[in-house]
Amino acid sequence: MNARIIGTGSYLPKRVVTNDDLAKIMDTSDEWIQSRTGIKERHLVVEENTASMCIEAAKEALKDADMAAEEIELIIVATLSADHVTPSAACEVQAGIGAVNAVAFDLNAACSGFVFSLNTAQAFIQSGIYKNALVLGAETLSRIMDWNDRGTCVLFGDGAGAAVIKADDEGIMAFEQYSDGAKGHVLAGINRKNNNPYVKNDTDPTYVQMDGKEVYSFAVSTVPKSIQNVLDKANMTVEDVDVFLLHQANIRIIQSVAKRLKISLDKCPISLDHCGNLSAASIPVLLDEVNKKGMLKRGDKVILSGFGGGLTWGTTLLTW
Ligand code: UT7
Repeated sequence: MNARIIGTGSYLPKRVVTNDDLAKIMDTSDEWIQSRTGIKERHLVVEENTASMCIEAAKEALKDADMAAEEIELIIVATLSADHVTPSAACEVQAGIGAVNAVAFDLNAACSGFVFSLNTAQAFIQSGIYKNALVLGAETLSRIMDWNDRGTCVLFGDGAGAAVIKADDEGIMAFEQYSDGAKGHVLAGINRKNNNPYVKNDTDPTYVQMDGKEVYSFAVSTVPKSIQNVLDKANMTVEDVDVFLLHQANIRIIQSVAKRLKISLDKCPISLDHCGNLSAASIPVLLDEVNKKGMLKRGDKVILSGFGGGLTWGTTLLTW
């Protein structure tokens, strides 16, 4: 049995912040942001939080899948910006939608989180442990950005995406996922200090810090190789793939990946223009947009590929 996506949903915060809005509060411009990244605007939470966005996305995905919350056996939320250390965002989703029969936990693999979570659900379903799952990617990145660092804060947004997954003969065909912890410093945010009385001189918490150029070159070299590896595993070529759902970090990264793989940009839908980089939420939000636009038909071959903090990266090939 494989994990097959049978429903999707998403939620973006009501407050839209354009590049011009940002230019009013920091030294930046619409021209710089658009030309370097392709981002025009992003949604930032005012009243929402990670769990509340997840709950809205989950309800929509369950409706799309025509499933009741009580039927769900596993909930995974991919996030690095859960509202609390505990309870997890996944447990809050469980309570919020009434998925009383599910086990729920969060998974932190930064921007690769949704792909890793999907692959985790596949492992549980393939082994027969669970028959279905609700997999989400959600971030309130605005909470952990350094709003004095124009080089990073303009890039990110807030949002949540969800997918309902069910055991099926078709679905996930192949995947790979990797980490390189030795390069963790390239994209990092240090959490709260240890207040244990025996610890002295613990590191101060920091907002997200990123070496943009390092991440950029890591992405443009790693993503095409990862996609090619997964296609090789399935004895397929890029021509066999109908849609490439690539992590939405920068339009120039997507263009470079498409060029290296010799694929048409028409096969690489974009949401970063109106969302910015949503980290773990970027792929599921894009998936829901593509699904709702009717761009996917049963039997289509879809690639999902993410990369980011950790460093982490992963690719999944599935049949829609
Ligand atoms: O999810 C994965 C996480 N992140 C990524 O994938 C990010 C990958 N990296 C990138 O997308 C790009 O490296 C950035 C968009 C972050 C930066 O683009 P860049 O072309 O590498 O620009 P840069 O960092 O070399 O900065 C060029 C100039 C600098 O000024 P000087 O030193 O040339 O005078 C920056 O200070 O642009 C300046 N700059 C800005 N100017 C206006 C940096 N941020 C801004 C800004 N507005 N927001």
